[in-house]
Amino acid sequence: MIRNLESLLAKITTTPALDNEFYQEWMSRPFSIEELQVFARNYGAFVKSFPDALAVLIGATKDLEAKTEYVKTLYSEMGYGNPAKVHSALLFSFLGELARKMGHESKLDPEILVETTELLPTTSELLEGEKALYGDEEMSFGAQLALEWQAYTMLRKLYDGARNYMQLWSEPDQFHEACEYFYAHIGAAEKDHKDESLKAVERYAVDEHSTGKIIEGYDRHLDLISNFWQGLHSRIADLSVKSTAAA
Ligand SMILES: [Fe+2]
Repeated sequence: MIRNLESLLAKITTTPALDNEFYQEWMSRPFSIEELQVFARNYGAFVKSFPDALAVLIGATKDLEAKTEYVKTLYSEMGYGNPAKVHSALLFSFLGELARKMGHESKLDPEILVETTELLPTTSELLEGEKALYGDEEMSFGAQLALEWQAYTMLRKLYDGARNYMQLWSEPDQFHEACEYFYAHIGAAEKDHKDESLKAVERYAVDEHSTGKIIEGYDRHLDLISNFWQGLHSRIADLSVKSTAAA
């Protein structure tokens, strides 16, 4: 049973959740502050809501060992108990510094973004859909497997794009210091989360029915993630049409 899942996981980087137009754009050029606001508002909301979705998952999981694996993931998401190191805090600390370097101080602050920048419908669908999947005991294992197995490539691509702004920092060391959000993910944490999610799934993928439900949760979550990036890409494409028209 687990072999079916392993062959799915081997193909994850070729799915539209990870191979899409948003990432191509993000990695190819620096964004304007307006484009960064769209990214920060929506991706920020996704990152900020993730621990809450994990809490739903932990509540819905009865198997003690699987529950323990998810608790470890949640603890790491929450900065191992240090509020300054909570992953959403690390993300907004990078974005805040980036805005300052661009001469747009505070424009990427989460409190400002809530007032200035729209949360896209595809983002709300991801946040709500993720919580619903995590609350469904049969599909939640696959949903979490999808999230964690796409996360390494997601963060690697986001980091590759973040390097487009490196020249804004006069000291390269300071750019790398500002990148703690990315390094926390392309280092050990994501590798551990992959193992934890697979260990949790192994305990549940015992027959055809349970494996089918895992795959359903996996596919549904990847679809939500793919639509999320597609929504961001369309919004950013609209912005560049408007700015060309204005020019
Ligand atoms: Fe994280």
